[in-house]
Amino acid sequence: MAKKFLITGNWKMHGLAASLREIGAIAGHAAQCSGVDVAICCPATLIERAARYAPTLTIGGQDCHSQVQGAHTGEVAAAMLADAGARLTIVGHSERRSDNGETDAIVKAKAEAARAAGLGAILCVGETEAQRDAGQAASVVLAQLLGSMPDGAGCDWLTIAYEPVWAIGTGRVPAAADVAEMHQLIRSQLAASLGEDGDAMRILYGGSMKASNAAELLAVPNVDGGLVGGASLTADAFCPIIDAAAQLQR
Ligand code: PGA
Repeated sequence: MAKKFLITGNWKMHGLAASLREIGAIAGHAAQCSGVDVAICCPATLIERAARYAPTLTIGGQDCHSQVQGAHTGEVAAAMLADAGARLTIVGHSERRSDNGETDAIVKAKAEAARAAGLGAILCVGETEAQRDAGQAASVVLAQLLGSMPDGAGCDWLTIAYEPVWAIGTGRVPAAADVAEMHQLIRSQLAASLGEDGDAMRILYGGSMKASNAAELLAVPNVDGGLVGGASLTADAFCPIIDAAAQLQR
């Protein structure tokens, strides 16, 4: 099933007020590529300003707490992201799974919290290099997918991102055939669990996507967009990825 590409930037712990001009330039470019959905998941501190500065661009968060509110110093609730102007959030990024010990159950609860606040969610899964070397990539990714899948999952609000941990920020990318195999596996599982919604759900690839490899990665069957870290921090690096998607537009 043909799906509109979604190209999402993940700014991680980067971005001060001066970075808003990059958001403005990205928004301007995205507005000319109506066949591609574009989002920037910026730090929580920039969401409100980014949403005001670039009202046509989808702004997202990078994480949310699983609870609606409460005594959780330093945490950000999904409703707070929405209130600041976010329309979606990443959940279960591998950096949060490893840095913060987030389990599949926690990620599932976070995705459900995002949905309850009216946000879309991009749920990340991916194997480490040791797991791939041990031949466990498929079983690890499937277990994460099943364990993190929120109740009420639907293609209208949930997106999956396959991000091999060893490809994140390393400049290394899996062979197109390996990406195809993993995305097919995820697709089959989504279809088995969710039926038509699973067929229609977007599956993004993430991990060292950049201008020079975006066209090849986006052309892989069942790759419905990208989750882009380092190459999303400037309009110069990010816009060519949007263009690659626009050229392949389905
Ligand atoms: P990268 O990060 O593009 O810098 O590899 C991707 C991600 O972690 O989402």
